[in-house]
Amino acid sequence: MQTIRSITKMPKVSRQLAARGKTIALVPTMGYLHEGHAALIKRAKKSADVVIVSIFVNPKQFGPKEDYKKYPRDEKKDMARIKKAGGDIVFIPKAIDIYPDNFQTYVTVEKLSKTLEGKSRPQHFRGVTTVVAKLFNITRPDVAVFGAKDFQQAIVLKQMTKDLGYPIKFVIAPTVREKDGLAMSSRNRYFTAEQRHQACCLYYALGTAREMVKSGIKDVRALKSEMRAVIKATSPKAKIDYIAFTEFDSLKPVSKASKSTICSLAVRLHNVRLIDNMRF
Ligand code: PAF
Repeated sequence: MQTIRSITKMPKVSRQLAARGKTIALVPTMGYLHEGHAALIKRAKKSADVVIVSIFVNPKQFGPKEDYKKYPRDEKKDMARIKKAGGDIVFIPKAIDIYPDNFQTYVTVEKLSKTLEGKSRPQHFRGVTTVVAKLFNITRPDVAVFGAKDFQQAIVLKQMTKDLGYPIKFVIAPTVREKDGLAMSSRNRYFTAEQRHQACCLYYALGTAREMVKSGIKDVRALKSEMRAVIKATSPKAKIDYIAFTEFDSLKPVSKASKSTICSLAVRLHNVRLIDNMRF
């Protein structure tokens, strides 16, 4: 496995690979990898000859009061995990190279970035789309793989890929969960054992909604009300940021759940903001 830190070497390596007829898949990450990332790398391996995994904790996607400084980092463990999952190249750029002095150009996906997560985190998606556009330019992938856990991020990035005409196949891979249903996330490490159990409230609420939809209850108001009750029962201290039922691709709100609906929610628990989603 090769490690590349230089933003000038990376495109050269990608060009050489392309010249040799190799296809490239990119898995962008912010490091502190877990089994969810390993699944993305394995998925990438299936769709291209060479897998590049980027590690970059992107300052531009954190709000001023968010956890950029304390976001967990462990490069050594990440390397071992990437190697085990089948990654070929680890790209670890420096912040000063991605955002040189006087940096002032951003990529914004206008509408899709404004709803759901965008309401609570106003500059978040602008940071995500800007860094991913840069990563696409530097690594020149044929395929890019993102996780469904951050589903709005995936929808926003898919739109960016289409709008900017990147010749990149866009793959959204399923969420990987712990045995008790908690969606894997680097931020889960912030919890104590007791808090960690309460974090399952998102999954329980989604599971309840799924069962209700299966049994024929499709009215979104009724579904939301039951989800709120489940969250309160599992985790009385949890603060619900939003529960939303929207169309999958357009993110437009719906009043009745159907096959093209996705339910997503964000909950703040012991100072950690958790998100999750489910399609029915
Ligand atoms: O999902 C993430 O880890 C990040 O938002 C991404 C896509 C790597 C951009 O920084």
